[in-house]
Amino acid sequence: MEKKNLDWANIGFGYIKTDQRYVSNYKAGVWDEGRLTDEDMLTISECAGVLQYAQTIFEGMKAYTTEDGRIVTFRPDLNAARMADSAKRLEMPVFPQERFVEAVLKTTAANQAYVPPFGSGATLYLRPYMFGSSPVIGVKPAEEYQFRIFATPVGPYFKGGVKPLTICVSDFDRAAPHGTGHIKAGLNYAMSLHAIQTAHRNGFDENMYLDAATRTRVEETGGANFLFVTRDNKVITPKSDSILPSITRRSLMYVAKEYLGLETEERAVYLEELADFAECGLCGTAAVISPVGKIVDHGKEICLPSGMGDMGPITKKLYDTLTGIQMGRIEAPKGWLVEIN
Ligand code: PLP
Ligand code: COI
Repeated sequence: MEKKNLDWANIGFGYIKTDQRYVSNYKAGVWDEGRLTDEDMLTISECAGVLQYAQTIFEGMKAYTTEDGRIVTFRPDLNAARMADSAKRLEMPVFPQERFVEAVLKTTAANQAYVPPFGSGATLYLRPYMFGSSPVIGVKPAEEYQFRIFATPVGPYFKGGVKPLTICVSDFDRAAPHGTGHIKAGLNYAMSLHAIQTAHRNGFDENMYLDAATRTRVEETGGANFLFVTRDNKVITPKSDSILPSITRRSLMYVAKEYLGLETEERAVYLEELADFAECGLCGTAAVISPVGKIVDHGKEICLPSGMGDMGPITKKLYDTLTGIQMGRIEAPKGWLVEIN
């Protein structure tokens, strides 16, 4: 398969239209058989559930070219399961999980020419999503839905790649207790736009959101979970029912313990203990692990000892091991890599 002539090393995190996308429609209580299409434009009712009441959910995942030239996806079964949880919370039909994985592989295979080559630093981002497509005017779930997956080649999520970020403690809340913070609903991102633009206008790369009830505990950013490293090399991640259960974070905690022999802990992390940590990173599919160098809490600067020059040493080991697994350089735990055929 001949690759497209893209400047792989310099693409950013943006949308580049690729050849084929997957689509399946839900009508009269059943999903149709689904198909690949080259049609990237949609026509839906002006009164569609997604347009009126934001009934939409999504996933984010990547396909990689391994060192030996295979194309693999990373733990797609976990994205399928999380999307099922998101669907149930927004009263949407579940797209069957085995079909989700099959559709991801099909979409990747159909866009092989856009899977960035090994070593380029870029990957193919896959965006499964589902929305209410039939008209609703009273507040209730739609009766018809569309499930789609498109693919787009991407580079690093944060400009500057792995340069440490400066983040701020946000005055806005991302998720309420018993709300929708633990699912991947479009509405969580719509309401974060003002917060992220405010952070950018104030010169910060990202927000640190706190728990909405007490504003004392660290939750996550708008698109990634936190990992902290203590001064004695323990890897800690915040435990909360209102953050997204990141697949990258769950994988990194496993890597820390099983590959690097580090102690790990998922527990409440308090704002007031941030100054005690040695390293901090943001982890997610798009972010991979992006190091944080400085956290600013209303004028009070917390400078991580790892500094603003490079990733901290434990963050770097975690990054190298995870990406090594994803790119086939380090043996993956059983079932983590699913190859396209
Ligand atoms: N938290 C939020 C709010 C996200 O949007 C994402 C991205 O998917 C993550 C965390 C990271 O999750 P994952 O590692 O599954 O991509
Ligand atoms: C991802 O990491 O896949 C996400 O969906 C996060 C988004 C902010 C790009």
